[in-house]
Amino acid sequence: QIDRKVDELMKKMTVAEKVGQLHQLSGRQFTGPTSSEYADKLADIRNGKVGSMLNVKGVADTREIQALALQSRLKIPLLFSLDVIHGYQTVFPVPLGESASWDLDAIELSAHIAAREAAAAGIHWTFAPMVDVARDPRWGRVMEGAGEDTYLGSKIAAARVRGFQGKKLGAATDSVMATAKHFAAYGAAIAGRDYNAVDMSNQQLYETYLPPFKAAADAGVATFMNSFNTLNGVPATGSAFLQRDILKGAWNYKGFVVSDWGSVREMVPHGYASDLADAAVKAINAGNDMDMEGYAYSQHLEAAVKSGKVKMATLDAAVHRVLYKKFELGLFDDPYRYSDAAREKSVLGDQSHRAAALDVAQKSIVLLKNESHFLPLSREARRIAVIGPLADSQRDLEGGWVVQGERAKVVSILEGMRSHAGKAEISYAAACKPGCASSEGFADAVATAARSDVIVLAVGETWDLSGEAKSRTDITLPGQQEALFAALKATGKPIVVVMLAGRPLVFNSIADQADAIVYAWFPGSEGGNAVANVLFGDYNPSGKLPITFPRSVGQIPLSYVQYNTGRPVTDEKNVVYKSAYIDSVNTPRYAFGHGLSYTDFKYSGLTLSSPTMGKGQKVTLSFDLANSGKVEGTEIVQLYLRDMVSSVVRPLKELKGFEKVHLKPGETRRVSFTIDRDTLSFFNSQLTWGAEAGDFKLMVGSASDDIRLESNLTLTQ
Ligand code: IFM
Repeated sequence: QIDRKVDELMKKMTVAEKVGQLHQLSGRQFTGPTSSEYADKLADIRNGKVGSMLNVKGVADTREIQALALQSRLKIPLLFSLDVIHGYQTVFPVPLGESASWDLDAIELSAHIAAREAAAAGIHWTFAPMVDVARDPRWGRVMEGAGEDTYLGSKIAAARVRGFQGKKLGAATDSVMATAKHFAAYGAAIAGRDYNAVDMSNQQLYETYLPPFKAAADAGVATFMNSFNTLNGVPATGSAFLQRDILKGAWNYKGFVVSDWGSVREMVPHGYASDLADAAVKAINAGNDMDMEGYAYSQHLEAAVKSGKVKMATLDAAVHRVLYKKFELGLFDDPYRYSDAAREKSVLGDQSHRAAALDVAQKSIVLLKNESHFLPLSREARRIAVIGPLADSQRDLEGGWVVQGERAKVVSILEGMRSHAGKAEISYAAACKPGCASSEGFADAVATAARSDVIVLAVGETWDLSGEAKSRTDITLPGQQEALFAALKATGKPIVVVMLAGRPLVFNSIADQADAIVYAWFPGSEGGNAVANVLFGDYNPSGKLPITFPRSVGQIPLSYVQYNTGRPVTDEKNVVYKSAYIDSVNTPRYAFGHGLSYTDFKYSGLTLSSPTMGKGQKVTLSFDLANSGKVEGTEIVQLYLRDMVSSVVRPLKELKGFEKVHLKPGETRRVSFTIDRDTLSFFNSQLTWGAEAGDFKLMVGSASDDIRLESNLTLTQ
């Protein structure tokens, strides 16, 4: 039905009008370098030369600009797109933080609310989720993804797509099109430097980096965005291998591919295209459908079609994919379908969205350390000094990519602590400004601390240090923050450190000396309430790290997905001629999957339904999980696997399953995982997916470095 409508429309279109559908321009706000005047952009829209706008939002503005598109000859509506990454008005934790919840329902709901708000404000399409696996915390964009793990990342990718798009695209006006980005392997930019080249084996690509994209495609993601990086020498934007062979070929993907901002034109400085005209030809022939702020298609595609460098069929296929989505969203029936002032007002005023933001912010918080069960804090007649440059910040709780957040309504850590303190008395000293360049205010902070029973120290990265173009070579706490910790430590008062960041940071003296450490990421609008609930024990933390925290930059890239090597370290005291460093242990500061609780969980009684598995069979692994502590809590149990001997060596551990289990004190539950052939499969050297007969080790635990139970399984054929 839609295909027929698209074909009919396309019969009426000139080549220039077709090219226009593939041209995407930014509104007045930029998320990359532009080279066009705003007035010229508006004129192009009126003349039917633009298919989509990004960075235009709100009912008033989208209506105004859509009206221009409707003045064009064929009155084809525009698609309005925006980076709605972790909320539109209600700000949710940054995606990496949210991923620490391992809570697929909460993540889906967060994406749904972001979509509901955005779709009420004229937006049809978000450039999210970012599903890049990322194992290098120097890369500022680790903040925007689900962390280092392929399995967890794939589950989260699908959950986010479901949340943004709802059950059926265009069926209701509370969803937006999602984008799986950045296709592909952008997370592996050499040395964590943004926009840098990527060089990896196809095996690594297939096994580690592609599955979250496949999961997004299988979940029906409407669009893909390619990426700035080269992959093995070919810019992703010009890669027919990625876009034609894999995405549109092997995966039979029917949505469309948008370039990243200017990534078509960037094939020239990459040294892959000789000029902008050549870039246009190479991009569309490789399967890139829409050119975002690149001006390669708008300036050169028509001529390329006329000269035969680009076949009309290639242009038509790209245009067809774009128009299909416009029909699917119902924009030809009502171009203003998503731009309704009354709906914008009511949806953006919906206070229930804050409750969801609080819920997922709490679930995202990771209790990294809790010496002698120091937390939770008692409210009984205690004097609590809240100190630190980020304690009273609202902006730093939001993180990057905030589109329409109501800053004044963001609950700071100080505000959260004050409103939850009960009888406890809260005093406050900033000690230094965000960034903590100077130690001028330290004396005042130390005096405030000296008058208290306990210090809550809020430190970390400011919001603008993580995100696009925010790679760092030094991921220690910026400025004088470690010195501030040392000055406060000298008072002898216990210190709880609350850390805000978009990436794993290195903070060795704090890790060694703090009484407790709570990693809150950039937790969003409700961040202060979430932190206070955790510190006072009204919420028992359950978050687990979705990414490894190294001890030093020198260990990077560091992931739990490691190989044994021919010379594994078996004794940290004797590493000579072993795969080791002479100045550091191999282990991370905090491992993937780590996260503490105020209660204790005991694992016991592991059984396998069979010690062997044949063709077509499945095996069930079960064990008892008991809450042996004094308060109720949630454990995220993790299933890992090792293939002992195979045609391609396999990692020591790979995550293959997880479950969130909530238990009352004294309660025990039997937890089960099903293991099938797929669980045991990998890509062999021919890039064929399959399992090889032999022995496997199954491991169940509380973190990748805290395995509690093990069993062997033999695949017989
Ligand atoms: O969506 C983003 C992308 O992730 C990075 N470059 C700019 C795009 C549009 O804002």
